[in-house]
Amino acid sequence: MRKILKIDTSARRVDHEVTNYRSLSRQLSQHFETLWRQRNRTDEFIYRDVGATPPAFISEDWIAAVFTAEQDRSPQQRALLALSDQLIDEVARADLILVSTPMYNYGMPASLKAWFDQVVRVNRTFTFDLARGDFPLQPVFSGKTLVLLSSCGEFGFEPGGIRESMNHLGPHLRTLSHYLGVEDFREIRIEYQEFGDARHRQSIERAQRQVEQLVETLSGELQPAA
Ligand SMILES: Cc1cc2nc3c(=O)[nH]c(=O)nc-3n(C[C@H](O)[C@H](O)[C@H](O)COP(=O)(O)O)c2cc1C
Repeated sequence: MRKILKIDTSARRVDHEVTNYRSLSRQLSQHFETLWRQRNRTDEFIYRDVGATPPAFISEDWIAAVFTAEQDRSPQQRALLALSDQLIDEVARADLILVSTPMYNYGMPASLKAWFDQVVRVNRTFTFDLARGDFPLQPVFSGKTLVLLSSCGEFGFEPGGIRESMNHLGPHLRTLSHYLGVEDFREIRIEYQEFGDARHRQSIERAQRQVEQLVETLSGELQPAA
C-alpha cells in the first residue's frame, strides 16, 4: 500500500450549481485522485486543504521552540510546534506528494508558503552540519515523488518561454521539495486562464491528458519512500 499526501491550496473552492470546483488546480488534483483510486484501490490518501485552512505563520517564539532541544521544550513550546509536528508526520508518511496550486503574484499562495515554513524544519525534515562545507543542509527523508498541478492566468512560464524569468512558482517548489525528500519532481500546468479563449481550453484539455498519462506511469513506477 502506498500513501499519497494531497494538498490543495487555491482560495477558490466549489461551485455547487455545477458540483465542480471553480478552481482549475483543484479540478486537476480531483481528476488525478479519481483516476489514481480507480487504478490503485489499496493506496491511501491523506488530505490537507491549506487553501481552506491556511497554517499559521511562524513567529519568533516558534523559531525559539524549534531551536530548543526536544527534551527541554516547555509545554507551551510543544503546543506551538504541534501543528508543525502533525504536518511533518503527514509528509513522512507520504510516498507521493500531490500539490495543486494557483500562481498568485508569480509565485505560490501565502497559504502554501506558510505550509512549507511549518514543514521544512531543522532536525525534523533536514539536518544542518557545517562539516558538510558549503552545503550544510541535508534532507532527512528520501525517495519521494512530488506532482505539482498548477494553474495561471498568463502563459509562457516554461523554460525558454516569454515569461520564464517571471516564474517563481515551479522553480521555488522544486527547490523546496528537495528538503521534503523528493527525488522525482513532475509538473503539469494550465495556462491562459485570464484570456478565456481557445488556447485556454486547449491548455485544460492538454493538462487533463497529461494527468491521465502521469497516473498511468506513476501507478506502475511509484515505490514506497524511505
Ligand atoms: C490574487 C491573484 C493573483 C494572481 N496572480 C497571477 C500571476 O501573477 N500570474 C498569472 O499568470 N496569473 C495570476 N493569477 C491568475 C490565477 O493564477 C488563475 O486564475 C488560476 O487559474 C487560479 O487558480 P485556481 O483556478 O486553481 O483558483 C492570479 C489570480 C489571483 C486571484
